[in-house]
Amino acid sequence: MSGDEGLRGRIEDLGPWFHNLDIEGVRTAPYHPLGDYPAFKWRRFADLIPADLKGRTVLDIGCNAGFYAFEMKRRGAERVVGIDGDGRYLRQAAFAADALGLDVEFRELSVYEVDKMGERFDLVLFMGVLYHLRHPLLALDLIHAHATSDLLVFQSLLRGEEGVLPVADDHGFEETAVFGREGYPVLHFVEHRYAGDPTNWWIPNRACAEAMLRSAGFSIQECRAGDTYLCRRGAVPKGFGDLAGAAPLVPGPGD
Ligand SMILES: C[S@@+](CC[C@H](N)C(=O)[O-])C[C@H]1O[C@@H](n2cnc3c(N)ncnc32)[C@H](O)[C@@H]1O
Repeated sequence: MSGDEGLRGRIEDLGPWFHNLDIEGVRTAPYHPLGDYPAFKWRRFADLIPADLKGRTVLDIGCNAGFYAFEMKRRGAERVVGIDGDGRYLRQAAFAADALGLDVEFRELSVYEVDKMGERFDLVLFMGVLYHLRHPLLALDLIHAHATSDLLVFQSLLRGEEGVLPVADDHGFEETAVFGREGYPVLHFVEHRYAGDPTNWWIPNRACAEAMLRSAGFSIQECRAGDTYLCRRGAVPKGFGDLAGAAPLVPGPGD
């Protein structure tokens, strides 16, 4: 068997892949339904992230097979950690890191467990995960409380209206029309599946994604490709959701 066939076999054994990585000229997901994913997406927002990450630390939450984590390492980040809830993807990521010769650490952890990292990162990537969660706002609150010290790159599938209404501080109880107005934040609940995927739970419209980020204490700096936001960690709006130092929501043994 040639080296190339051996590599192809190993990649096939680790499949199916969601990330189409190029490993020594062999593609891991050449027939991805979205095309050359996520390279085509990355090209649209690559300039949102500092080109030189020297000395910075990066956490990629929901890293899958590590495409973005590898790009962060290629930009010179001092330390890159990828976490994902699915061990199959992490095995792909570990294999790819080794084959590509990139020093990236991967850990099997849910976004709900980011406090277990015990450290904050200069840059956190949280892309393509929010709508897969049953508790999306909790995830954002936890990232703010435990994971990021400065920047967040956030991406989500968005559905519904594109408009964004100016946000009012309050509405009287009699005000009902505003909830149906274009640009009001809406989080669409998926009871069964969307696009054949039973792990899609909550899909925001644009106004809702932006409102959730602000509500969790992230100030939006820029948006690219229509759905990818660079945010800076700021103060949590008064009276809401600051989970830093809060007791675990689900106490574990010994808590
Ligand atoms: C649509 S993929 C996005 C992958 C990558 N971030 C990207 O943008 O290409 C969603 C990823 O989130 C992971 N994921 C889903 N729920 C998670 C959770 N609770 N904690 C961490 N990762 C999760 C999945 O295993 C999968 O790898």
